[in-house]
Amino acid sequence: MKKEQVVNSQFSVWYPLFKKHTIKSLILPLPQNVIDYLLDDGTLVVSGREEPPQNSQPNNNDSDEEEDVQWSDDETTTTVTAPEFPEFNSKVQEAINALGGSVFPKMNWSAPRDANWIAMNSSLQCQSLSDIFLLFKSSDFITHDFTQPFLRCNDDSPDPLITYELVLRKWCELIPGGEFRCFVKENKLIGISQRDYTQHYDHVSKQEEDISRSLQDFFKDNIQYKFLDEDFVFDVYRDSQGRVWLIDLNPFGEVTDSLLFTWEELTSGHRLRGDHVEGDTTEQDSPAFRYTTSEVTVQPSPCLSYRIPRDFVDLSTGEDVYKLIDFLKLKKSQQEESDEEV
Ligand SMILES: Nc1ncnc2c1ncn2[C@@H]1O[C@H](COP(=O)(O)OP(=O)(O)O)[C@@H](O)[C@H]1O
Ligand SMILES: [Mg+2]
Repeated sequence: MKKEQVVNSQFSVWYPLFKKHTIKSLILPLPQNVIDYLLDDGTLVVSGREEPPQNSQPNNNDSDEEEDVQWSDDETTTTVTAPEFPEFNSKVQEAINALGGSVFPKMNWSAPRDANWIAMNSSLQCQSLSDIFLLFKSSDFITHDFTQPFLRCNDDSPDPLITYELVLRKWCELIPGGEFRCFVKENKLIGISQRDYTQHYDHVSKQEEDISRSLQDFFKDNIQYKFLDEDFVFDVYRDSQGRVWLIDLNPFGEVTDSLLFTWEELTSGHRLRGDHVEGDTTEQDSPAFRYTTSEVTVQPSPCLSYRIPRDFVDLSTGEDVYKLIDFLKLKKSQQEESDEEV
């Protein structure tokens, strides 16, 4: 995979090309002070909450109009609050309102899918900048976009300059069984995989041919030869009326999850095998179609390892996430008390 392929698969590059076929979105450049805040490893402090004193020092040396740390006169009541970004905040709020009040946030390439457990509603649905900050600051996928976008690229050219962007997409309730990933090599659709391979969806096996046909038509009519690279991976959603929508575009390479294929197969140049028996004898040119069959036991969610233990999740379910923090503080003070007793 070449660095150029990664550059081309940024949201702001593909969105204008396929605007008509995807979810309405707005792109805002991330100001440097917001980038610094997102990359700062310090304690997660989201605006609007007061937290007990942290081990950080007051930030006196900058002339930035943003206030990072508030220190009161009395040392015992010192509070640390999240920095405020009034100008950026109002731009974001305006964009969220223009998109109907609820958005799905992502960056140049990734959404914070590994962090949804931390949100109050366990979802990536955001209504404000502080909802977005909470997800972004908790996500390794977002950190990856900032720090290692060219990981696994095999050309030695210097890293292209990236303008970091906040992408806000109108929130849509997508049913996971309607999502598919399509692999394109040399402008040919070679494979289609169910995107949520952890589940068996009855309608996918029943409508396999219809689905495959509609995705091929969508590719031929709207995508083929219209992108900057001839190798790429695109994600689609097929809604209940059978209409197909483009959801995302990804580089053709190992940074992109190959789902029910392997990268070895996809790059081998051999014709891929589908799931149905007659696959090889029917249409010569149709892509291999793979989905999770009922015989396969349901697999764990791929983002599970990013989460905290289930008990903690349960504890915060239906409550705000600070309940969990309060619980941990209570545990700590109980621990300290029992240590003193010894
Ligand atoms: N606008 C949206 N509203 C609600 N959910 C969305 C939206 N866009 C994407 N999703 C869901 O989030 C998942 C990941 O989105 P995607 O843009 O592909 O991010 P990534 O490239 O980080 O995986 C999709 O598979 C879909 O289920
Ligand atoms: Mg993607």
